[in-house]
Amino acid sequence: MTAKPLRESLSRAGRLLSARRLLPTRHRGDVPAPTDAGAVTIRSTGIDVERGSRRILHDLSVDVRTGEVLVLVGPNGAGKSTLLAALAGDQPVSAGRVELAGRPLSEWTHHDMAQRRSVLPQQHTVGFSFTARQVVTMGRSPWARTRLADDDTAVVEDVMNLCDVLQFSDRPFTALSGGERARVALARVLAQDTETILLDEPTAALDLGHQETVMRVARDRATHGKAVVVVLHDLALAAAYADRIVVLDEGRVAADGPPADILTEDLLTRVYGHPVEVLEHPRTGATLVLPKRSGQRRSDHSANS
Ligand SMILES: Nc1ncnc2c1ncn2[C@@H]1O[C@H](COP(=O)(O)OP(=O)(O)OP(=O)(O)O)[C@@H](O)[C@H]1O
Ligand SMILES: [Mg+2]
Repeated sequence: MTAKPLRESLSRAGRLLSARRLLPTRHRGDVPAPTDAGAVTIRSTGIDVERGSRRILHDLSVDVRTGEVLVLVGPNGAGKSTLLAALAGDQPVSAGRVELAGRPLSEWTHHDMAQRRSVLPQQHTVGFSFTARQVVTMGRSPWARTRLADDDTAVVEDVMNLCDVLQFSDRPFTALSGGERARVALARVLAQDTETILLDEPTAALDLGHQETVMRVARDRATHGKAVVVVLHDLALAAAYADRIVVLDEGRVAADGPPADILTEDLLTRVYGHPVEVLEHPRTGATLVLPKRSGQRRSDHSANS
């Protein structure tokens, strides 16, 4: 090789090397900046949802805010899961709009949405026989190739501990009981560690102690600036942990406000089509919501027979 081409190829190699020095050794993707305290993360405005030929949600508007536990309640079929799925972007709307961080859901990629909101569906299925730890670790996938991937192991350990599932780490997900699976599924959603967390009946399959644990975790996440939406049937749990309750009835918002304003005998009796009593716990003052029961107690019954 003569001197000139040699000089040219050396200088080309030098340019390439200096350009490479400007690049990170490994691609590190962006992570979303946190939203201000109390700001809206997801907003639905006047949404209709149709499934098959039926309209399920009618002109429904709901705001989801950081720092708040928003509890959705209502009778079976009222549209709670449908609303949660619409807020998550998993259910198309036929009218109105849903915005995430101020932009219509249609403008978001699946990956960018997964960095901002996580969803626990009412039914959790895992196709293959993954272990509990593998299922929870899947929750970290939106953070691959970001600086947050460095936290994967610690986050998985932390959420498995919170959900009391560390002891199932190496067990196949499919070999767990219903409530154990529900806790692993929740741990996976918490591992995703998004600003907005949407949970559809996370306590439905759980014993009393684990129900409280789950709601405490939800409360704690909201206290630390997350926006948490929880679908519940247990109105006493809703009273104890919600900042705000939205009551759905036949696909419409029947009430939206703080628990003390919402949990009234009149409203609940009307919406549930069953007489309801709202009482104050004599010692703690906590709100108790009970269905009114007619007829005799079992002890009266056996005494008379
Ligand atoms: N795939 C579907 N096709 C047609 N209708 C559906 C479909 N899925 C749900 N629905 C209907 O939509 C309505 C709302 O369902 P949704 O699952 O949102 O209720 P929900 O409030 O979550 O009830 P639950 O408390 O039983 O979970 C119900 O009347 C239900 O029958
Ligand atoms: Mg549901």
